Amino acid sequence: MNFSRRTFLKASSAALVAPAIPACSGADVVPATGIPVSPFDEDSTAEAVTEGIDLSGKIAVVTGCNSGIGFETMRVLALRGAYVIGTGRTLEKAQEACARVKGVTTPVQLELADFDSIVACAESIRSLNSPIDMLICNAGLRGGEREVVNGVEKHLAVNHLGHFLLVNRLLERLYLAWQGRVVVVSSRAAYRGAPEEGILFDDLKMLGDWDVGTAYGHSKLANALFSFELARLLKGTRITSNSLHPGVISTNIVRDESAVVRYGFSLLTKVSGKTVEQGAATSCYVATSPLLGSTSGEYFEDCNAVTVTGTGHMHDREQASRLWLTSAELTKDYLVTHKRPDWNEFRNGIRGTSESAAEIQ
Ligand SMILES: NC(=O)c1ccc[n+]([C@@H]2O[C@H](COP(=O)([O-])OP(=O)(O)OC[C@H]3O[C@@H](n4cnc5c(N)ncnc54)[C@H](OP(=O)(O)O)[C@@H]3O)[C@@H](O)[C@H]2O)c1
Repeated sequence: MNFSRRTFLKASSAALVAPAIPACSGADVVPATGIPVSPFDEDSTAEAVTEGIDLSGKIAVVTGCNSGIGFETMRVLALRGAYVIGTGRTLEKAQEACARVKGVTTPVQLELADFDSIVACAESIRSLNSPIDMLICNAGLRGGEREVVNGVEKHLAVNHLGHFLLVNRLLERLYLAWQGRVVVVSSRAAYRGAPEEGILFDDLKMLGDWDVGTAYGHSKLANALFSFELARLLKGTRITSNSLHPGVISTNIVRDESAVVRYGFSLLTKVSGKTVEQGAATSCYVATSPLLGSTSGEYFEDCNAVTVTGTGHMHDREQASRLWLTSAELTKDYLVTHKRPDWNEFRNGIRGTSESAAEIQ
């Protein structure tokens, strides 16, 4: 058996952080079946996976464009010709990031902890009156104190609920695209760090046991389940939805963590991490690859769809549906109802029909 240097380093760094992983379901990943295998892997960069792909005329939205993986994702999509709408928590942050990118970009303000800000962001994007080809739900936070925001634990509110509302408000524009793609940046923490029971439906505020790692893993599991359920609801349309783990990358993601965690993370990223250029590869691959036009409801790592084994909840259909209904209830005053277009005369390229709701909310 061949062990690459990275595999060895990964194994040793996994041992290093293993005690910090609160709930592990003996999970591992195996290649997903029936999904095109890409020629790319953990070493591929965002530029490499989009090489030769002309995105002229395509419109992408990237949340959290001012930092880390989001910035690189925006940069590379714009480099390939896409018009990118990049969001930042303040307009200044988004403007500054867009100004650093070659290509056509528009900065928009988006604070995912604030429903009014999400609606305002969606409305300003909608006012462009254009289809959206790629909606990349990248923004995320990890760390800080225990807090309840919009009726749920803060990580769940920002990482999941905010994007749930944003996608809902922009869905109508994804319908208008030839083949719209929702790409949700989740994490391996979704099955390594989430509570054993999965989504804590009886304690969404996490008033019981709380620690940053579990709260983050919980929100990242919600990201994956949201994408999974969205894919089911959108069956029979041209819109796909997939989630992914970008890798372990030295970004600002742990800036609100303790000094010890920041130090541990910096060691981990040094010995077995990806560069930011590699970290944005899976997002860009899932958003643009011609191989994935009809792939939906999948979870990707290192540019390939994988199935998570073990007793975790990454592919838990029941929890995904329940999370959808719960999220819809929590955001009900801000949601809009979409009527699905009638695709009957456009047979070519449709992923098959479904009896799922003709309206999704
Ligand atoms: N880096 C990793 O090792 C790793 C591993 C697995 C998954 N991920 C995921 O990858 C995604 C990108 O993270 P990153 O590593 O690039 O971290 P990052 O450099 O910290 O970027 C996170 C982005 O999200 C934005 N953001 C945070 N809270 C927000 C809020 N309340 N409303 C709107 N935007 C908000 C940040 O804005 P500000 O700069 O203004 O805070 C920033 O633009 C996240 O979803 C993260 O969970 C990262």
